[in-house]
Amino acid sequence: MTDKLIIFDTTLRDGEQSPGASMTRDEKLRIARQLERLKVDVIEAGFAASSNGDFDCVKSIANAIKDSTICSLARANDRDISRAAEALQGAANARIHIFLATSALHMEKKLRMSPDQVFEQAKQSTRFARNLMGDIEFSPEDGYRSDMDFLCRVLEAVIDEGASTINVPDTVGYAVPELYGNFIKTLRERIPNSDKAIWSVHCHNDLGMAVANSLAGVQIGGARQVECTINGLGERAGNCSLEEIVMAVKTRKDYFNLDLGIDTKQILAASRMVSQTTGFVVQPNKAVVGANAFAHASGIHQDGVLKARDTYEIMRAEDVGWSANKIVLGKLSGRNAFKQRLEELGVQMESESEINAAFSRFKELADRKSDIFDEDILALVSEESVLNDKEQFAFVSLAQHSETGERPHAKVVFTVAGQEVRGESDGNGPVDASLKAIESHVKSGAEMVLYSVNAISGSTESQGEVTVRLQNSGRVVNGVGSDPDIVVASAKAYLSALNKLQSKSDRVAAQG
Ligand code: KIV
Ligand code: ZN
Repeated sequence: MTDKLIIFDTTLRDGEQSPGASMTRDEKLRIARQLERLKVDVIEAGFAASSNGDFDCVKSIANAIKDSTICSLARANDRDISRAAEALQGAANARIHIFLATSALHMEKKLRMSPDQVFEQAKQSTRFARNLMGDIEFSPEDGYRSDMDFLCRVLEAVIDEGASTINVPDTVGYAVPELYGNFIKTLRERIPNSDKAIWSVHCHNDLGMAVANSLAGVQIGGARQVECTINGLGERAGNCSLEEIVMAVKTRKDYFNLDLGIDTKQILAASRMVSQTTGFVVQPNKAVVGANAFAHASGIHQDGVLKARDTYEIMRAEDVGWSANKIVLGKLSGRNAFKQRLEELGVQMESESEINAAFSRFKELADRKSDIFDEDILALVSEESVLNDKEQFAFVSLAQHSETGERPHAKVVFTVAGQEVRGESDGNGPVDASLKAIESHVKSGAEMVLYSVNAISGSTESQGEVTVRLQNSGRVVNGVGSDPDIVVASAKAYLSALNKLQSKSDRVAAQG
């Protein structure tokens, strides 16, 4: 007999809380579709009450996704819960996820509430939510640092009120595996109605133990839901990484003896999509999805793998979606082949005119670059925000001159609210000159806190993918741009970040 382990993905909620990882509605929708293809059981689509933008994202995802349960986070109050329920109306399967802090520190310093007040609010809000929806999850925020007796009292009460999933967050990543596993076990043993709920783990990675702690919560504690994110994206050092937990449970089925609904072949596509959308580059030695995860550099290892693959490989690269860099399309490929490849990559375009626009960008790229890989296509569609003149800022063209011994100079043409403008500047290098040329016109005053370039498919023939992180008035955003010319890619990334600075309103933070 095996049990099923429920995979609850929170890339679009907790992942997005990572500074600079904010995503537009269309980006979130595209990722949600990929999560559905990956067959995650639950997608936490956002925090509907935190802003109108988030409400819209949850609503669009709830309307579009049919196979996964769609969840919205809500604070333990009637307004947040009603907003979540409203955003989730169109979902085939919906869940409201209520959170309320229970540690003495959070109750006293953050909430300024007594334990009795927290107890009452937890009960009352769960009852309110349960009257609106059948599937309710309750999280005692900072649960792992809460007093055991008090936590048992609160969790017993919310299960009585109808919470069907109890999630135990290690909000600040303080746990160690054995202690966290035993913490969940004790809760389940001490709470009389614990068998009426599915127990869930939610671990942050501040000490690098989020995956280990989650696995201990499953194995020692008996949890049957894991909350995780693609690439481990999330607040501070991030969350438990989906790809790692899934492949650990699958590869060591002999030990965990758990079933998963996940289509692991979709893991790499999901990882790349999240990385390209947020600009958070995946480190080469990252387990499962890093560029080196299946590369054998030493002669002894290569020899071993050639003789018998399992000498040095415990998983098959193709099982998580790796394949040799395939040339998928070229200059002569037609619109139908392009459209089909988009579908295979899980990119859904809303209208024929969007496909036409993407196809003409593909043709432009194919004129300049003979072989087009999947990565190029994904980069091309994720550039929507700088090539679409419906956005505030859209790239048009760039000219720059650099020569040894001379100060580089750039002229950039772009549109601002549909009007063509030009900026011109010198700089320390051609990239610096181009971004200063844009800034000379826009005068955003934003501070650049990160600039990075990555070759999309490995060689100098590939497109450069640039990430620019800007900070302005306490807000941090990432912009991503790609082009075979890295100066152009940089200008696109800068404009994309400016668009995000413009479009994202401030939100309520989940950890107060
Ligand atoms: O880490 C945390 O405590 C959370 C809760 C909102 C579930 O993300
Ligand atoms: Zn969290």
